[in-house]
Formats: sequence, C-alpha cells, structure tokens
Amino acid sequence: MAVTPSESASVIEKTKSDPDVEAAVRKWKNKRGSLIMVLHEIQNSRGYVPRDVALYLSRELSVPLASIYEALTFYHYFKLEPPGKAVISVCTGTACYLKGSQAVVDEFSREIDCAVGASTEDRMFHLQCVRCVGCCGLAPVAIVNGKTYGRLTPADVKKIVHEWREHFAVET
Ligand code: FES
Repeated sequence: MAVTPSESASVIEKTKSDPDVEAAVRKWKNKRGSLIMVLHEIQNSRGYVPRDVALYLSRELSVPLASIYEALTFYHYFKLEPPGKAVISVCTGTACYLKGSQAVVDEFSREIDCAVGASTEDRMFHLQCVRCVGCCGLAPVAIVNGKTYGRLTPADVKKIVHEWREHFAVET
C-alpha cells in the first residue's frame, strides 16, 4: 500500500498526540508479537484500525505497512472502517463485571436499540464489550471514542448517549 510523504508526515504527527495509540506502542514495543497485540488494543478501543494508526505503527514498530495490512486483512476480527461514528466500548473485565458492567451494557443496548457487537441503523453508534481497559479503580468503565466514563450505573447511560448525539449534531 503506497504512502505519500505528506500523508506519512501529517498522520504521524496527529497520531502522536493520540494517547491510547502511544500507550499501546509503549507497552508492546520490543516484545514478541508486538504488532498483533498493539492492533488488538487499537481495535478494542476504537472498533477499527484507522489508516493513520497503521502508518504510525509502521514507523514506530519498524514493520512495513504492507505487513500491517496483511495482518489486518488476514484476521477477520480487525476492521478497517469505523463501525459507527461513536464506538461504545463497555469493559466487562473482572473488576467491571463485579461492579455491575452487564447492567450498563444492557442499558446501552436498550437506549440505542442495538445489540452488542452491532451498529445502529444510522451508523451513529457501535456497541461492544471489551476486556480490562486498565482503569479498574473506576469500574465499571466505558470508553466512547477514546473518552473514559467511570463508576457507571445504568442511570448514566442516557446522558452519555445524549452527549454524543449532541456532539454529532454540532459537527454536521
Ligand atoms: S476490569 Fe474494567 S477496567 Fe479493568
């Protein structure tokens, strides 16, 4: 997959300021199987692996971009396109589960009328469950497009969904 110099420079700058991507690279760099592990973290937090992230990883992990796309297309788990404008990732790791994350998942599902692992018809939301996202002290936790919400109860869900609907209404 060809990369233009301007594409490469600008996306790397942009991705650098992306804390979840940088943290995943720091965590796995120089470890065996680092590429797949980083791709998993990105997929889990965003619901897909954007091209700018693939470019950034290519440079940071010294892996040819073609090899990254080989992995991304080989495993069906990885998505190359955003499944919804807002990806709602509810943590169902042990700490979150014990503090009631399933009720939060159910409430999101009810509020946006969408099953776990699916996207709403208007593709505004995608709902998924993820493993521990590393902030168990805030359990139960959900992440929406990189923004973390902690100590959630089902009563918080409506407000979060409303917040993102408003966000996209302002954008358009
Ligand atoms: S188990 Fe949910 S953040 Fe760790």
